[in-house]
Amino acid sequence: MAKARATKLALLGGRPVGAVEQPTFPYYTPRAYRRVAQIMREGRVLGFSRGVPEVREAEHALSRYHGGRHVLTTGSGHASLQMSLAGLNIAEGDEVITTPYSYGASTSCILHQNAIPIFADVNRDTGLIDPKQIEARITRRTRAILLVHVYGHPADMTAIMRLAKRHDLVVVEDCSQAHGATWKGKLAGNFGDAAGFSCMGGKQLAATEAGYMVTPDKDVYWRACVNSQHLGRDVDAGFPDELRPIVDSLVYTYRVTTIDAMLLAEQLKKLGREIEARRNNIARLHKLLADSKYVAWPRHSPHGRGSYYMWSMNFRAKRAGIHRDTFLKAVQAEGLMMNNCIASPINTWPRLQWRTYRGPRTTWHGNLRRAKVVYREADVPNCRHIVDHGVQSLFRFFKPAHATMHRIADIIYKVEENIDALRTYERSQTGGD
Ligand SMILES: Cc1ncc(COP(=O)(O)O)c(C=O)c1O
Repeated sequence: MAKARATKLALLGGRPVGAVEQPTFPYYTPRAYRRVAQIMREGRVLGFSRGVPEVREAEHALSRYHGGRHVLTTGSGHASLQMSLAGLNIAEGDEVITTPYSYGASTSCILHQNAIPIFADVNRDTGLIDPKQIEARITRRTRAILLVHVYGHPADMTAIMRLAKRHDLVVVEDCSQAHGATWKGKLAGNFGDAAGFSCMGGKQLAATEAGYMVTPDKDVYWRACVNSQHLGRDVDAGFPDELRPIVDSLVYTYRVTTIDAMLLAEQLKKLGREIEARRNNIARLHKLLADSKYVAWPRHSPHGRGSYYMWSMNFRAKRAGIHRDTFLKAVQAEGLMMNNCIASPINTWPRLQWRTYRGPRTTWHGNLRRAKVVYREADVPNCRHIVDHGVQSLFRFFKPAHATMHRIADIIYKVEENIDALRTYERSQTGGD
């Protein structure tokens, strides 16, 4: 190992340490394969309601997992988030405070409800939304907080729930990257008035394309049903009489397929085991990288236990004397697919700049214009910092992967030990010296 580290960097013509292979993912059990074939043979692919056995099975299993909360399976994570907002009656003109450090769906679900996203800055080390910054953004139009447990690490749910109570706001958790994560021992998704999960094929609980919404409030559940699918599950037991007059097909088509519902139930059986393996692999990697000089693990709260959709670190560019992207290039050349996966704060994205935007028309630009909301990068300096310094890698190691963790550490150490050569390389690329 030490020998590999001392050799010339692959970026500079040396031999790479070797590719870090992610396991085939998602992994479906043989039983899941058999059930897919059976469903297709029987021609039962539509997941209209709980009258369909696979939908009932998935929603009951997920409800048990979430301590008896109501669960609505959906065709995507985005749908589960938008239906969380719909179920909570968040609509035109309502302000929803959210994070600029996320995948776009945590913002687009707000836009698609005709509501107004307002961005609160994040912690510059962890990338998680900062409760103090949320408080600073509350106005008389604020109705909700939509937070993201980014990369699988829980946000500070104690502070956020306290804040919401004080200001009479509802809370939506975006748990799309945080299946199985906990805050003070309680599962992500079990804090808010509603929560959305993505279960697309890359997530810890992976179907093919699917998601689910969780809520402790049955009215929120039924309102989400009525908005998310044709006939709104009016055939299911408990459907509220007061909603019957509005049942129709003026809705989104966000229902789940029976195949995905079945996969959710099957995949859930092994989720706990797989998350434990992810945590053990990360703990090993953490230990192996304890002497790293230029990358630092975010200092997460001891109250949170992550579930590691990705592993995320921060590059110490000043100390290293090179730009983060030069480091990434060197690491990639050695065989590790590491990236900066959130390339800019969401509030700087061109499509949100309604004054200057000239692209295809949307359903929501008019709302931003009427609200006269102004999105400025200067409002989220910490988000900019983590965007500039963060490095992440997908982390699909759901089984023990000791040799791979060693290889990752070898790559990082090899690059660090060749930092002088990288400084020279960087100067040559930028025309300095
Ligand atoms: C934080 C976050 N929110 C929402 C989503 C949207 O999920 P989906 O792609 O299933 O619609 C994703 C996933 O891709 C995500 O990472």
